Parts: sequence; C-alpha cells; structure tokens
Amino acid sequence: MSVSNAPAMKKLRFALSLALFTGMPLLSQSQTTDVLESPDGHLQVRLATDTEGHLSYEVNYKDLAVIRPSRLGFLLEKPHMRLQRFLVLDRQNASADTTWEPVLGEVARIRNHHNELALELQDATGSGIRVMVRFRVFDDGVGFRYEFPDQEALDHFIIKEEVTEFALAGDHKAFWIPGDYDTNEYLYNTTRLSDIAALDAVARERDIAISSPIGDNAVQTPLMLVADNGLYINVHEAALVNYSTMNLVLDKATLTFRSHLVPDAVGNKGYLQTPAHTPWRTLVISDTPEAILASKLILNLNEPSQIEDTSWIRPQKFMGVWWEMHIGKGSWDLASGNHAANTENVKKYIDFASEHGIDGVLVEGWNEGWEDWFGNWKEDVFDFVTPYPDYDLDELTAYAATKGVSLIMHHETSGSVTNYERRMDRAFQYMKAHGMHTVKTGYVGKIIPRGEHHDGQWMNNHYIRVARKAAEYQIMVEAHEPSHPTGLHRTYPNWLANEAARGNEFNNAPALGITPEHQTILPFTRLMGGPMDFTPGLFHFKLNQFVPERTTVVRTTLAKQLALYVTMYSPLQMAGDLPENYRKHPEAFRFIVDVPVNWQDTRILEAVSGEQVIIARKDKESEDWYVGGITDEQERTARITFDFLNKGQSYMATLYKDGPKAHWDHNPEAHTIETRMLRHGTPLKVTMAEGGGFAIKVKAVK
Ligand code: NOJ
Ligand code: CA
Repeated sequence: MSVSNAPAMKKLRFALSLALFTGMPLLSQSQTTDVLESPDGHLQVRLATDTEGHLSYEVNYKDLAVIRPSRLGFLLEKPHMRLQRFLVLDRQNASADTTWEPVLGEVARIRNHHNELALELQDATGSGIRVMVRFRVFDDGVGFRYEFPDQEALDHFIIKEEVTEFALAGDHKAFWIPGDYDTNEYLYNTTRLSDIAALDAVARERDIAISSPIGDNAVQTPLMLVADNGLYINVHEAALVNYSTMNLVLDKATLTFRSHLVPDAVGNKGYLQTPAHTPWRTLVISDTPEAILASKLILNLNEPSQIEDTSWIRPQKFMGVWWEMHIGKGSWDLASGNHAANTENVKKYIDFASEHGIDGVLVEGWNEGWEDWFGNWKEDVFDFVTPYPDYDLDELTAYAATKGVSLIMHHETSGSVTNYERRMDRAFQYMKAHGMHTVKTGYVGKIIPRGEHHDGQWMNNHYIRVARKAAEYQIMVEAHEPSHPTGLHRTYPNWLANEAARGNEFNNAPALGITPEHQTILPFTRLMGGPMDFTPGLFHFKLNQFVPERTTVVRTTLAKQLALYVTMYSPLQMAGDLPENYRKHPEAFRFIVDVPVNWQDTRILEAVSGEQVIIARKDKESEDWYVGGITDEQERTARITFDFLNKGQSYMATLYKDGPKAHWDHNPEAHTIETRMLRHGTPLKVTMAEGGGFAIKVKAVK
C-alpha cells in the first residue's frame, strides 16, 4: 500500500469490521427471503430484499463471510429503466447429483452435485417485466445467473449495464490483470485489493502497457483472492454465450466489485431477445488453494456437449514453423526474402515430428497477405485459401501423410472478422481437402470494420460460431487473442484450447516479458476457465540466437519447461522450440515425447499462487503417472509422497530436475536426469532452483 492512502484504508477497515462484528447490515432493513446451502452444508447463500425491493445475496463458508450483502440487477437502455427493485413472486428448489465424462480432460469423470434455488421476480416499478435469478450451490462454490423468460412485457431489449455486486469481506490479497475490452495478455499483479490502482501507477512508471479503458480500479476475471483468514475465493464466469465479457470495477470505500460489461462499437452492452439468460457468475471457494485448482464448478455450469459424435476429437501435441519467425530466424512474409513457410523447411519439421511421434506441424505465414497484415485496418488481407508460391501444399499434404503427421492450419484474421466469417466455409473445405483437422485462429489488432471489441457480445458469439462451423467439418480449433475462456470446451469439445493470456511467446517481448512467478499464477487465474495454449517446451533461452542485438531471454530453467506440460493442463500442447534446439538435448526432449495430454486422474499436490504448483496426473490410456512442479524466483524443495500410486505395483520413475547450480538467470539449461524405483507411498525430495522446476515420468512396470 502506498503511504499516502494508509489513513483512508484504516478508516475503511474500521468501518467494515464494525459492520461485520456488530452484524449491522450494510443494506438498510433487509429481510431474508431464502437460504440455500451446499450439499455438505459448509456454504450458505442468503437472499434478501429491502423495503424498496432491492435484492441482495450474501455468501458464507463455514461461518466466514465470503460475500457480504451485494445487490443484483440491471440498467436497461431499451426500455430505458432500472431493473433493480423486485417483488418476489415465487421460488423453486431443486438439486442434482450426477456424473459425466468429459471428451478430453484432467479427469475421466466429473461429479455435478449441487442444490438450486430459482427466484421468480417481478419489476417493482410497474413495468410488468419478469426476471429469474437462479443460484446453484456446490461444495466448492456458487454460481448464479439472471434469466429473462419469454413474456409480453419484454421482448427485444438492450443492456446498458449489469449491476451485479461482489462485496468482499476484507482487503484480500488479489492476483489480477487490469480491466480491458480487447486483451488479456498481461502479467499478473499481486496486491491487496486496496492497492490495485497503486500498482497500476507503478506499472506505468516501469513502462508496462497498462492502459485500462475502464479505469484504475478495474480488473478482469478469473480474479484470485486470498483472505487473511485462510479463505480462497476465485471470481469468474461460466458459459459466456451471447453476452459480453464481465470486467469488475472496485469501489475501494466498500471493497465492493461491480460488474462492468464490455460495450459494443456504439457503447451498448448487450442485445437480447427473450427467452434469454446471462452467463453464470461464479465463486469458487475453499479453505485450501489446492481445492480451487481441483474445482470443476465452471465445467459443471456449462451445457453438455452439443457435438454428438465426438470420436474424431483427439488430444494432440504439435510443433510449428512459428518460433523461428518470432526470434528472427525466418519471416512470415515472402517479400522479406526469408520466408520460413517454404516447402523444404516445412518438410524438416515434418521429419522431426515424425521421428518423435509428435502428431502435428503448425505452419504460420503459409498464405498470401503477410507483407502488410496488421495495423492498417485492411479488410481483405487474407483469403485463407491462397498459399505463397514457395509453399507446395499438395506436395506437403502427401509428404505428411507418408510420415504419419498432420499439418495444422493457421487462420490469422488480422482482426478482419467479418471477412473471416464470409470465407470460413471455403477455408474449412480447403483444410479438409488437404487432410487438415486442426486450426489455430488469431485475432491480432482492432476488430474491423465495425470496431467491435475482442471481448464484446458480437465477438464472443463469433468464437462460438467458429467452433460450431468447424465441428460441421470435424475440425478442432484453438484461438489466439479471444476473450477469457469460461468452460465452453465442455459444450464444444472440438474447441481444444485458447491462448487468452500472456503465453511463452511473450518472453520475446521487450520490457518484462514473463516473470518466473507467472506460470504459478496462471492455474489460479486464466486456467480456471479452460485449457491454455501456453506453448511450453522452450530449450534455448537467450533469444539472440539469430538476431545478435536481441536482449530478450526466457526466464526459466529447462526442467521447468518440461514441468509445464503437467502443471498447465491442455489437450493441445505445443513443443514450442526449433528442432535444432531440441537436438541439443535429446534426453530431455524425451519427456515431451512421452508426456500425455489427456488424463484419467489429477491430484493437486501443492499449489500456492505466485509461489509454486505441484501436480500429479494419471495417463488416460495407462497406469502411468506424470508429476510436474514449478517454482517462482525462489528455490524450493518439493516433498512428494507417492500415495496415489497403486498398492503392490512397481514403478520406474525418470526424474528430470534442475542441475545443482541451475538458475533461471545465469544457468538455465543445467539439468539432470535420474531413474529410480517407486512404490505406493515412497517419499521423494526434489529441489527446484530459482525459477526452476521438475518433471517425473512414473511408469508402471511388471
Ligand atoms: C499472435 C499469436 O499469439 C502468435 O502465436 C502468432 O504467431 C502471431 N499472432 C501471428 O499470427
Ligand atoms: Ca497472442
């Protein structure tokens, strides 16, 4: 906290604790209308209305306040009105306890166990408008959403703002990125809630691009909060469909966040027609950080798969004609004279992938248009079906097939999304004709022509349109630069992963790039919404390999890059580096070859946001386990007890760990590889170097 606002914060803390300890309601004369508990009884949601009909909810966990009374409602643009005062017409209770199997995932089976309450409300100002508020309370958190039933009083309507509050019970430690309409590719900040803007200022001084269009007190979700009393709270949303992304704006005087939806090009925040509903607002809550990472609440609040036959959806590892452009060995555009996506070069990648059992090769810069692809707001940059003359796709298709490798398509839209929508069918037909079944999409730059935002309703619908259209062609998708994921990979399991955060490629950016703690925060934030294409597996850390004047470095050890395949869940994982860099470390590369990307079980062994993450996962296809551990800039010792292994079974462990003098800054490549036998319950100590980590393959043996 900065010295200047310390007295104000003291006053605020006093006012809050007075209210909390006297039980004095912060909203006047509220009367509880309903109470809903989680199946295990630890979580409690209390709904109340005041004398004017303002509706509020409150959440407690084991008698500790999670959310103090917080209001619910809307400002509408058309009809122009406040929808914030209600009469409670009716209520319905329900509960569910079912189990379902994700197509791809961290575990084979997921239990959906919750109690539900739907309050049927009527606008108290006489418009006749009816709204439902539906709450679901699970053992690991709460979800709620607004529903607008089909009705005479409301047909088409325009949202000016959703006014959902999250009044927090203390000045928690927060892991946050600034509110934005177009990007989530930030480093995370760790501050008290009251210091959110203070650190913004520091970041600006350091020339880190923080320029929230919403203001200094705005953050994006998933927002991870750690309370002094040991509560862990993750705020996000689930099933973001036909709606704008939610940012949160903090009122520092009351430590209350208010929803702030991303506007469209003319400033409206949503166009709905009844029947309609909002995404779920989610609170994952626990008294251990590990339980936050193990939660399946967000997936449970998404709809089941809309794709009936999912037999063609496959987990994959891939390499790419990609990093070599980022680090300046080659280029995307042909005119540069250094075009990387040429037939011969791509064959080398296909050969390397084939030798090592890697499923796919992504090729960027394969199509005409890269000479002037961004910044000039041109609509017809790419047509997605015209390769450069030095890229013989027919030859490569045939070549890849003989090698058992698939080419992965790249559709950079350059923000020209209406152009992409017009051309999508042909583009997917073109892929199928060339044996391609996976596409990486990208949305670099301003969305043209209309100036929609990446995180607005129109684009959120676009990402889903792509997933659905791709499914018609049995194509799998991963998007770069989309809005934050909200568990939609349950509903569209062909939508394998997204970037939607600062990934490994940012190591190549000047200024801060990526700090060693970043990957320990991502599971608690970005990954709460779904798999990330982080592109792990970099083995060469000084990024001046081809451009001597470059000063950028990857702040990691080599062993940590291996660990990321386990700590960062995704059914689509890249081996990000160049074949020649992998050839220098063939034994270490072996881990990337072996590690699965689809799992039957997952154990979060230890996890502290911003410090360390240690996770064990069991291969979906065998009895083998894989363990990954990563640390921030501090050296740490991991103590693992292999109590998750089968009793009576022997295992051969191959341990990839930091060398004795490894360090992310001055000795990042140093690593050692050891083997040893393990059984159920064997203890193991592994030291992680500063900015380091470890990876273990635990193979069941006869
Ligand atoms: C940004 C993406 O994140 C990156 O992976 C890609 O190479 C470039 N855009 C070019 O499309
Ligand atoms: Ca990106």
